[in-house]
Amino acid sequence: MSTATTAPSIAPVTPVDTRPEWKALVAHADKVKPLHIRQLFRDDATRAQDLAVNAMDIHFDFSKQRVTRETLQLLVSLAKACGVEAKRDAMFRGDKINVAEGRAVLHVALRAPKGTVIKVDGKDVVPDVHAVLDAMSAFANKIRSGEWKGHTGKRIKTVINIGIGGSDLGPAMAWDALRVWAQPGLECRYVSNVDENDFYEKTKDLDAAETMFVISSKTFTTLETMTNAHTARAWSLKGLGGDEKAVAKHFAAVSTALEQVKKFGIDPANMFGFWDWVGGRYSMDSAIGLSNMIAVGPDAFRDMLAGFHDMDEHFRTTPLEKNLPALMGLLNLWNNQFLGCDTLAVLPYCQYLDRFSAYLQQLEMESNGKHVQLDGQHVRWQTSPIVWGQPGTNGQHAFYQMIHQGTKIVPCDFIAFAESLHNIGTHQDLLTANVFAQAEALAFGKTQAEIEAEGVPAWLAPHKVMEGNRPSNMILARKLSPRMLGRLIAFYEHKVFTMGAIWGINSFDQWGVELGKVLAQRIIPELSGAKPDLKHDGSTNALINQYRAWRGR
Ligand code: F6P
Repeated sequence: MSTATTAPSIAPVTPVDTRPEWKALVAHADKVKPLHIRQLFRDDATRAQDLAVNAMDIHFDFSKQRVTRETLQLLVSLAKACGVEAKRDAMFRGDKINVAEGRAVLHVALRAPKGTVIKVDGKDVVPDVHAVLDAMSAFANKIRSGEWKGHTGKRIKTVINIGIGGSDLGPAMAWDALRVWAQPGLECRYVSNVDENDFYEKTKDLDAAETMFVISSKTFTTLETMTNAHTARAWSLKGLGGDEKAVAKHFAAVSTALEQVKKFGIDPANMFGFWDWVGGRYSMDSAIGLSNMIAVGPDAFRDMLAGFHDMDEHFRTTPLEKNLPALMGLLNLWNNQFLGCDTLAVLPYCQYLDRFSAYLQQLEMESNGKHVQLDGQHVRWQTSPIVWGQPGTNGQHAFYQMIHQGTKIVPCDFIAFAESLHNIGTHQDLLTANVFAQAEALAFGKTQAEIEAEGVPAWLAPHKVMEGNRPSNMILARKLSPRMLGRLIAFYEHKVFTMGAIWGINSFDQWGVELGKVLAQRIIPELSGAKPDLKHDGSTNALINQYRAWRGR
């Protein structure tokens, strides 16, 4: 984490709640709240067609949101008044919009085609991006072909990425999502937690001679990653007869910190760099995706980058009224801010997207979980929603009851694919019927009269009433592929950007995670060694003492 050394000149931010467009939405929300989605469809024959956008093999249907056409106009006016388009252009231009850290925010450069010019401090960064991609490709190809041999001459069968947060969640999610493209005989595993059980479980059945570790850390100082990396080094050396030279054949590093990598003992030739203008949670398409590239191959990885770029171009050039990420951000803001919904459930109907919601949690909540505007003024409105979810149909048999009939309104993003990656029966039709049915039931519900008309006794009918009017988006894509995965991720990246731009916050720093890290460093020596003179609060002191007692210290 870096700090700008001189105080940057930050323009005062107009609090969004003082804008007339915001006030118009507050007043408008009072008119919309009593309306039911049933009524909105009855009153508007072409609602389903008009409140949807088709682009890049994605059909984004937001007609089941609690919005009218006027709501959408007011939301777009708010986005314009807050300068979302100008802020977007500043990001794409390489301006240092991460003001607290004095950095440009250029994950879009990671997927810019060769020949695009994007400058940071006067230097075009795109050639460097492609040089790293080429180096990664050469390395990945050597491992995939077996040309790269481990210390004892065996080929590599398992790649273990050691990283956490943005250096883990994206690659781990993409490994699951793209495993169909993985080379048979090559497996990726992900160790992130400093809980040693994670390392133990991921390595217990492996042969060190066939295992490559990729140590992924932007800073190369993160406690969890460095601890696991040292454990991996010891584990490898033990399995390889203790020869220090073995490290070069079994360790690669992905980082912005060359010196730290060298200090760890990894050969700089096996290091793949990225840059301080790539935020950790926006880095899976940088060298942080090395494990993915090794698994699926450089071509599929570049297809994924092309998908990111498709969405970047759409976001950059499409009017807000038809702009997928901007619309999704505005609708989320509407639910979160004006209809009082605190959470967002992301529910992919695709088992390969098992880790997608976990990935989005960092993307969205670390980006927009902020309490001050760019200029340091405290915000007076809600910022990041709580993002959660897991794939359907499993979730239907777990928490959907609450979404249908509970007292909290949970807006949902359903993600579905028209085609499956395998055709082994009628599963895809059943899966799709379920996702459509859930969105339909949430929106339209079932009235007491409808239930009684089915012969249900009056005393039971209230239990079966589904109020409906529960908003959802349907993201129906044609088929999962590396390219589609890139599009979907960039869809959410730019959605998060849109919301942050409206709130006037910095979506690209993360100071909030620092205090816990600092306090942990203080507690580490207090858990072992001589009895410490504890100076924490009473609860923390008692917990440390209990732990020490149970550990016989
Ligand atoms: O938890 C905070 C954080 O800084 C994330 O933003 C980042 O993705 C993660 O830690 C890992 O950081 P690094 O890649 O530097 O190890």
